Amino acid sequence: MGAITQTMTQFVEVHPELKYVFFGGKGGVGKTIMAGAAALWFAQQGKKTLLASTNPVHSLTNLLKQDVFGKSVLIDGGEGCYALEIDTKDTIERSKTEIREKISWFLKFADIAVQAEEFVESATMNPAFEESAMFENMLDLIFQDEYEIYVFDTAPTANARRLLGMSKVYSLWVEKMIKSREEAGILRKKLSYSRRREEKDPLMDYLLKFKDRMADARVLLTQPQTTAFFFVTLPESLPIAVITRFIQWFHEFGIPVGGVIVNGLIQKETVTNDAPEFVLNRIKMQQEHMEKIWQIFGERVRSVVPLFETEVQGSVMLKKTAEFLFA
Ligand SMILES: Nc1ncnc2c1ncn2[C@@H]1O[C@H](COP(=O)(O)OP(=O)(O)OP(=O)(O)O)[C@@H](O)[C@H]1O
Ligand SMILES: [Mg+2]
Repeated sequence: MGAITQTMTQFVEVHPELKYVFFGGKGGVGKTIMAGAAALWFAQQGKKTLLASTNPVHSLTNLLKQDVFGKSVLIDGGEGCYALEIDTKDTIERSKTEIREKISWFLKFADIAVQAEEFVESATMNPAFEESAMFENMLDLIFQDEYEIYVFDTAPTANARRLLGMSKVYSLWVEKMIKSREEAGILRKKLSYSRRREEKDPLMDYLLKFKDRMADARVLLTQPQTTAFFFVTLPESLPIAVITRFIQWFHEFGIPVGGVIVNGLIQKETVTNDAPEFVLNRIKMQQEHMEKIWQIFGERVRSVVPLFETEVQGSVMLKKTAEFLFA
């Protein structure tokens, strides 16, 4: 049986500048409760903390039994911790409006006589657009810089990776756009196409600003002093496989992995031999998967959180969870 070499608490101690904490993993493994527990713990340490969800389902509102949708709210009994569920719909609408303006402007600039609407539709009617809007939202929060610690409950899908890859893709795209804009500008001048002299180019300004923002975001998300992604798994094969892949991807992207949290382990000492067979089988199965977990993740394991008798809701249960998370 393996053992934890660096606990969550020790990890935080050796990362005193830690500011952006993320929880990822397969659907339903306990990402939201871990994010909640961690946020309350940081607040207990006296840090001004925000627990934020970029998840399209209303997970925090349900976890806290408080409406935290679209505005940051103090958590009841939460040691001064704030929670916020990002209103994705609102962001998407805003992004659409922005894109519509930019595209219309560009089409006019380039003397192209088509309806902007078609372009807007194709730019916004894809699944990546929603994620990109959520990513933008997260960056807005980060750049407002009102908190000492940000704990993010990220979307459960494999797309967490896309979310992060996004900043890279954006930068490439923007660089390409800027280049072709520059070329178009030179061409216009050469042809004296329009007699108008050097005019302001809002699209170019926007692209340049956007590029800087993405570059800042990338620096921020890849700094091991400030940023850590924690991966939650159950002692079961599928969640283990999912985070094994995630960790590999994150390595490739140069994104700091803080460690692995094992959740939902049945406490053997609470179970007697006359327990129903399915319980005994479940324990045996968990033991086997625990061995795999130690093998695969080894010293990356930060904590093992037991399976509680009830589901985790509200600040009292979250603090109890935090005691295990930061044991
Ligand atoms: N250790 C535990 N003991 C008891 N219940 C738990 C435990 N961990 C999680 N749960 C419960 O399991 C459910 C799923 O947890 P949670 O919502 O945190 O998962 P998630 O990974 O965020 O899910 P999703 O992928 O849907 O966002 C919740 O009802 C939660 O209260
Ligand atoms: Mg969740």
